[in-house]
Amino acid sequence: NKLLVTGTACFAVAILSGLLTEQNRKSQDELRVMEGHVKRVEKMAYMGEMAAGLAHEVRNPLASLVGSIQLLKEDLHYDPDHMRLMDIILRETDRLGTLVNDFLFFARPPAGKPEMLDLKEAIDEIVSLFKRDTNHVRRFVLETDLQDGLRVVMDHTHLSQVLWNLLLNAAEAIQEDGRIEISAMASRNNDVRIQVKDNGCGMSQETVSAVFDPFFTTKPEGTGLGLSIVHRILEAYDSRLDVHTQEGAGTTLSFALKRSNRTA
Ligand SMILES: Nc1ncnc2c1ncn2[C@@H]1O[C@H](COP(=O)(O)OP(=O)(O)OP(=O)(O)O)[C@@H](O)[C@H]1O
Ligand SMILES: [Mg+2]
Repeated sequence: NKLLVTGTACFAVAILSGLLTEQNRKSQDELRVMEGHVKRVEKMAYMGEMAAGLAHEVRNPLASLVGSIQLLKEDLHYDPDHMRLMDIILRETDRLGTLVNDFLFFARPPAGKPEMLDLKEAIDEIVSLFKRDTNHVRRFVLETDLQDGLRVVMDHTHLSQVLWNLLLNAAEAIQEDGRIEISAMASRNNDVRIQVKDNGCGMSQETVSAVFDPFFTTKPEGTGLGLSIVHRILEAYDSRLDVHTQEGAGTTLSFALKRSNRTA
């Protein structure tokens, strides 16, 4: 009988130690996976810092380049061929400058100075600037529906950047008879919902799932940083972009901001 008990105990111990060994191996595997993950995240952060540093350093020589070409343009005898070439250099340096600035903004968004904004006023101003911007290729009707008396605390430049990017995307998505609507309405939980709606080309499911990836673009001249920057900015206000779209019919992008009840 004793023998049986000892036997069973030995057997139990063997099974238990087997289980423990297995458990131990599993935890070690998990630990290795975690370590790999942490290393990757660290590497990404490190690469982001490097890239941001590089972009920062590219800005100064770029500015000298533009300055020098502008001086040359004024000094040289007029020659249409030379002028054309210099305009190409200026245009391309401008593009590079924008790319570098956008990338820097994305990699290291500045904190900004939040202030009390009257949304109707602020959005009207951005919209009128946007309407006057002559870079749009396509024609569209841009309408606003902005509720009175909505105030938010936000950096003015941040709001402009978000709306400008959304309006630009809307304008670029339009084929003909373009219609863009921008609205701001009070909504649940003391929020304001700001919405930009277009009747442009819409997006496929694949596009929707990639729109926030930096450098994802379906446009030949796009950098794919627009919505990534919007996402980064809204993050700082505990907000995010909601995407509703139908291929061929149009897109509605919206986000919520906390309403401020203090009077300015
Ligand atoms: N309103 C929209 N209608 C249709 N597609 C859109 C709309 N907004 C964004 N997209 C899609 O999302 C992609 C990413 O947009 P995002 O603004 O980040 O970059 P981009 O517009 O391509 O380039 P960039 O803004 O840097 O000039 C676009 O290339 C486009 O395919
Ligand atoms: Mg864009």
